[in-house]
Amino acid sequence: MNNTIPNTKLNNGILMPMLGLGVYDMYQKQAEQAVETAIEIGYRLIDTASMYENEVEIGNAIKNSGINRSELFITSKLNNTDHGYEQTLQAFDKSVQLLGLDYVDLYLIHWPIKEGRKESWKALETIYATGRAKAIGVANYTLPFLNELKKYSSIEPALNQIEFTPWLFEKDTFDYCKQAGVQLQSYSPITRGIKFSDERLLELCDKYQKTPAQIILNWNLQLGVSTIPKSVQKNRLQENFDAANFTLDAQDVVFMNTFNDGFRICDDPIIFL
Ligand SMILES: NC(=O)c1ccc[n+]([C@@H]2O[C@H](COP(=O)([O-])OP(=O)(O)OC[C@H]3O[C@@H](n4cnc5c(N)ncnc54)[C@H](OP(=O)(O)O)[C@@H]3O)[C@@H](O)[C@H]2O)c1
Repeated sequence: MNNTIPNTKLNNGILMPMLGLGVYDMYQKQAEQAVETAIEIGYRLIDTASMYENEVEIGNAIKNSGINRSELFITSKLNNTDHGYEQTLQAFDKSVQLLGLDYVDLYLIHWPIKEGRKESWKALETIYATGRAKAIGVANYTLPFLNELKKYSSIEPALNQIEFTPWLFEKDTFDYCKQAGVQLQSYSPITRGIKFSDERLLELCDKYQKTPAQIILNWNLQLGVSTIPKSVQKNRLQENFDAANFTLDAQDVVFMNTFNDGFRICDDPIIFL
């Protein structure tokens, strides 16, 4: 059984695992335990954020894991309340300190808040220059936000994290990122289970003898989209990790692209235009 996840090379040359653990909505001991278990299973990418209020616990789990820091890929994000140039520099320092790390592998703008997003990006470029974030990027930057960012950025974002599932196949953003060399990463990738009873998905589960989560996560990987499913349960952490162990046929990937019905879990970022 393959127990590793393929890496992708970001546009500045650094390597990132294609599948990682999202840690939204887990707190205190439960968060610490979930991350420790995930690292034991083989996860090396952990996606946290200031907003998730668990950076201390994630840091503890990293320390307890005994895994070399250089083998882990840690992402954190700028909170919506911390936008602006100086505020961003301070918020970054705080995140790194709470995590108990010298650097993060990736620092993202969490949401494209209208007031401040330009100055915040400039601060991310400053942070990147110090080497304390090995890569910088954005989240919830659908096409209009990427087009705007292009006008004032000196550095292309390494990654864009958006809600992206077979039911929310944002083709214009997907195509832009592919063409621009911006790694796309999907959040809420398994729709928190809400779409697991889709008959077309269940047929694919039958065909491949895989679970709904595994089919959806593999669809991401076949499209070259990195993904960060969340779980606090050991069996599901393993199940999601094992989604990299098979290959959907190309025609089934294309079939899943047609599931799109605009279903979303989180806000449409368009509210910040
Ligand atoms: N940038 C952003 O704005 C943004 C927004 C949302 C999320 N995110 C990131 O993306 C990550 C993932 O998204 P998400 O947490 O919203 O949703 P998700 O990963 O699609 O789904 C997580 C939910 O599904 C359950 N689950 C996990 N694996 C399962 C499996 N194999 N079978 C059945 N149920 C399963 C989990 O419960 P248990 O824990 O009980 O297993 C949890 O309730 C977040 O943790 C966060 O890091 C980013």
